[in-house]
Amino acid sequence: MKEILVLYYSHTGAVREMAQLVARGVEQAPGCAARVRTVPKVAAAHEAPAPAVPASGAPYVELKDLEECIGVALGSPTRFGNMAAPMKYFWDSTGELWLKGGLAGKPAAVFTSTATLHGGQETTLVSMMLPLLHHGMVIVGLPYTEPDLRATTSGGTPYGASHHAGAAAERPISDPERRLCIALGRRLADVAAKLAG
Ligand SMILES: Cc1cc2nc3c(=O)[nH]c(=O)nc-3n(C[C@H](O)[C@H](O)[C@H](O)COP(=O)(O)O)c2cc1C
Repeated sequence: MKEILVLYYSHTGAVREMAQLVARGVEQAPGCAARVRTVPKVAAAHEAPAPAVPASGAPYVELKDLEECIGVALGSPTRFGNMAAPMKYFWDSTGELWLKGGLAGKPAAVFTSTATLHGGQETTLVSMMLPLLHHGMVIVGLPYTEPDLRATTSGGTPYGASHHAGAAAERPISDPERRLCIALGRRLADVAAKLAG
């Protein structure tokens, strides 16, 4: 079975739910399975370090997950129009892999959630692409051949999947947002399987 890494950070659960939908899309591709992982919170040195294993949810990612998987779907909440610090902190630890070109040529896709409709979904998605491009990864987006991209009145962009969660996370993932998460996972896995031969 070829594996796609679905790597997310989520504080209040919206991006975790999106990650599960992206993983569902990955598993629709013949011969593909999703490996779902998260990253620990970052804390100032005087605070307690993160436990080695999370109390619940996906296990923490290790560099070998990036090496072993044939593609990566990356999800983070929007933080001031950018990815959240724990996800950026993780990518800052991947220099060794970058030096040896471990991810060069593998495909990647991105997804995010925001409190407000125009609060920076696109900028966050593009910011998440930057470390992936430095690693030589091939970005997979969502084309307008996906009917939901035209129909959505909330999240969903050509740059990747997105969700408008509302200020109090009161908005459930809409049907178009959900289908676009699944479509992104499926497209990523299809491309990754082709590239991996
Ligand atoms: C420090 C901080 C910065 C944020 N910045 C933005 C922002 O720029 N735009 C926005 O719409 N929402 C912003 N949010 C809200 C989160 O992106 C939003 O609640 C998201 O759905 C949370 O995802 P999660 O449930 O996976 O943690 C911010 C939240 C925090 C805590």
